[in-house]
Amino acid sequence: PVSQALAGQHWLITAGPTREAIDPVRFLSNNSSGKMGYAIAKAAQRMGAKVTLVSGPVSIDVPAGVSRVAVVTAEQMEQAVMQQVSDADVFVACAAVADYKPAAIAEQKIKKNAKTMEIKLIKNPDILQQVGALKNKPLCIGFAAETENVEYYAKDKLQRKNLDMICANNVAKKDIGFDSEENELVLYCKNGDSVALDQNAKYTIASDLVSEIKNRFF
Ligand code: PMT
Repeated sequence: PVSQALAGQHWLITAGPTREAIDPVRFLSNNSSGKMGYAIAKAAQRMGAKVTLVSGPVSIDVPAGVSRVAVVTAEQMEQAVMQQVSDADVFVACAAVADYKPAAIAEQKIKKNAKTMEIKLIKNPDILQQVGALKNKPLCIGFAAETENVEYYAKDKLQRKNLDMICANNVAKKDIGFDSEENELVLYCKNGDSVALDQNAKYTIASDLVSEIKNRFF
């Protein structure tokens, strides 16, 4: 750690995509690289927090001093988060969790005989909403990745998921968001405040976000 500003706190952070199997060789997923969530984990660790990173499949290294729980599916991510959350002071949900999964996983590789095919999807658990509904919930920070009506949808998620702050990520913008080196966020707080974090390297955005959380809530 380079500072002890968050000493004694446990931060639980989700990052990366989840993967939902269709058959033994195929899955549904998204373009999350894990970079944003890993940067937040690194920033919190460097400010003295104990950090647990629950991560979907990504190809980046675990930041020094951070413990990682590796998961694949949304359900595994839910289980890992629920196991850790009672001990957490802060929960940051940066993962791009698949909202739906195939209703059934084909046991064998699906053959391409038919001209069209349909995959029936069913809803995955909403991990952040579940944490926000806990009686003794940690401080809850969510993300909202949106391509339109960004502020409206972000504020809706802030309320609906009972969060303390939401980080609105306009992923329709070029060069930021999913699988890029930089990001840009607008933070909306429960008390109505908002803070813009202008486009910058993900680690810079992450450090500013962690400082903002610390200054506002601790
Ligand atoms: O990983 P990178 O390539 O660095 O990209 C970073 C990012 C774009 C993935 C990240 O900045 C981001 O925006 N993460 C949230 C992505 C997302 O899925 O947002 P959402 O608006 O669909 O979900 C809203 C919130 O609920 C998020 O905090 C999400 O983690 C959480 N959620 C959603 C669905 C679900 N089943 N469980 C959840 O916990």
